Order: sequence, then C-alpha cells, then structure tokens
Amino acid sequence: MTEKIRVFSGIRPTNILNIGNYLGAIKGWLEFQERPDLDCLYSAVDLHGITSPYESKKYQNQIQELVLEYLAVGIDPNKSHIFIQSQVPEHIELAYYLSTIYPVSRLEQLPTYKDKKQEQPRYINMGLLYYPVLMAADILIYKAKLVPVGKDQLPHIEVAREMARSFNKSFGQTFPEPQAHLMKGAYIPSLTGEGKMSKSKPDSFISLLDDLKTIEKKLAKVPTDNGHDKVLPKEGGVLSLLNFVELFQGLEKKQEYEKLYLTTGLQYGDLKKDLAKSIYQELQPIQEKRNYYADRPKEVAEILEDGRKYASNIARETLKEVKEKMGLTSNG
Ligand code: TYM
Repeated sequence: MTEKIRVFSGIRPTNILNIGNYLGAIKGWLEFQERPDLDCLYSAVDLHGITSPYESKKYQNQIQELVLEYLAVGIDPNKSHIFIQSQVPEHIELAYYLSTIYPVSRLEQLPTYKDKKQEQPRYINMGLLYYPVLMAADILIYKAKLVPVGKDQLPHIEVAREMARSFNKSFGQTFPEPQAHLMKGAYIPSLTGEGKMSKSKPDSFISLLDDLKTIEKKLAKVPTDNGHDKVLPKEGGVLSLLNFVELFQGLEKKQEYEKLYLTTGLQYGDLKKDLAKSIYQELQPIQEKRNYYADRPKEVAEILEDGRKYASNIARETLKEVKEKMGLTSNG
C-alpha cells in the first residue's frame, strides 16, 4: 500500500466561524477528507489565538465552540483527525528548533506581522513575531504536503516551505515542502466592500451561526450603487454581493444579475433577500448539527482524545528524527 499524503490545517479559536473561513478554508478541508489517498489532520490552534488580546476565562469555551463548529460543518471524525494544538506540545518544541535556522529579519518583513502590529499596537509580543514559526512547526511536524487555507495565509506557507528547504539542506532530507491549497473562495471580501471578511472586524462578516433575520440585516447594510452601468464594478459592495451570489447560488445566477446590471438595471432589494435565503439554507443544517454535538460533550471529548493520540504519535516520531539529525541525541 502506498503511503497516504498528509494534510494539515487549523483555525484560531478567536470568534465564531464566518463564511470567509467556511468558503476559504473549510470547504477545502471537506473536499480533502473525502479522498482516500489523503490523511487529514485539522486542529483548533489555540496557541496561535493567544498572540492577540483574548479573555483567558472565556478561552476554554471558545476552543470547545470551535471544535463543535468543525464537527457541525461536516469534518467527520471517521475521515479526519480533529485535535487541539496545545494538547500536542511537540509543536512548540519543533518550533524552537526551526527558529534557530530562520532569520529574524524575514519574520519582521512579513505582511501579516506588519498588519498585526497596526491592528494591535499595544500588544506587539514575541509570540506575534514567532507566529509563522509555530505555524510552520504545525505543518512540518506531520510532514504534511497539503495545507488548505485562504489566500491571506500564503506568506506563512512560504515561510514553512523555506524552513523545510533550509532544514533539509543543513541536516539531510527530512521534510517535504508543503503546498497551500486554495479554494474558489480563497479571498472572501468584507461586507463593507473594503478589505477581507475577518473574524476581528464585526461589520465585515456573516457568521455560521447567524439566523435569517441577522443575515438579511447584514446584507441590507452592504453599500451598493444605482444598479446600472456600462461596465461591471471592479471593487466595493456590489462586487462582493455578486461574489456571494456565485458562491451560494451559482455562476448562472450571477451572470443573470450581471446582464441586468448592464441593461435594464439591478434591484438590490430583491437580490439581497434572495441571497440571504440561499446563505441561510446552507447554514441552517450546520447550526442544527452544532447543537447536536453541543448536547453530547462526552462524544466530542472522545473525538478529541482520539485525534490527540493520533497526532501525538506522529509528532513524537518526527521530533525524535529531528533531534537526532540536529545532534541533540545520539542515534545509536
Ligand atoms: P485564521 O484563524 O485567521 O483563519 C482560518 C482560515 O480561514 C481563512 N480565511 C479566509 N479565507 C477566505 N476569505 C477570507 N476573508 C478569510 N478569512 C479567513 C484563512 O486563510 C484560514 O485558512 N494562521 C492561521 C491558523 C494556523 C494554520 C496553521 C493554518 C495556525 N497554524 C497551520 C494552516 C496550517 C490563521 O490565522 O487562520
């Protein structure tokens, strides 16, 4: 039997998942878990979450909530391994080893680090700079080759690739170079029409747990124009709306709207109402499944324990190999 190709990805337990996370990352996770040639590990990356301001007393609940949402969207414990990052502390150890072969200057130049410094000027901690190192360790400790993520994570995947190359060059072939896997929704714009949809910008997103009324209200706020022009918009709220139409209602529907925009004019009220319904139709079964698992904490705990054990076994093996290769233990 040929060995399965490993897949790793994770999300921070910072807020309820939104449709950006869902379309950009999770749809890829779901696609991969159906492939028999892949071995998928999906983690709640709680150690990354604490690099931004957070409330420690609420954190355990947030982590559990994220796990419920993983199960709710359809991550199937019979097909994927689900676990909490901090419960496999080998990630931290590997991150330290990797940090010794990577230049600080590269980390300081990363656009994601620069953005975070602006977003949280009073919270520029070492963990923030170290963030991509830990993320590389998350991936490399499983020798994962595929990483389904949104577009914003590409600079981090590049760091992981560089680290793999650098380690292999210095200590012998050990890690494959991981590749990002982008979905059609790899960049979901904000509802405001400016920038990306983000868990940390409240007006920007529709969450997976929003009800129909809330989705309608949020879509109603998306800025539009008079519904008619000679050319299609290249940015802003209308473009975002048409994007959502394509992702939730299909390309044909989007093309129908585009035709109206270029001819007789587009009625945004109708478009938004229809779109809200389609989005909710996709979210409703997810919300029901979330509640199903919320009522079964023992089952969820077992799933996490299975995931932890599976991940730990692989992580320990990799660390052993890394320590030998780096001259930290004898291989005799
Ligand atoms: P996080 O928690 O910010 O986001 C989780 C995932 O959702 C994707 N995403 C989006 N995709 C499309 N459009 C958007 N507007 C949008 N917003 C978020 C992100 O790209 C991501 O895939 N650093 C990671 C977590 C992480 C990780 C890892 C990922 C830690 N270790 C190892 C992969 C492998 C992060 O902050 O994701």
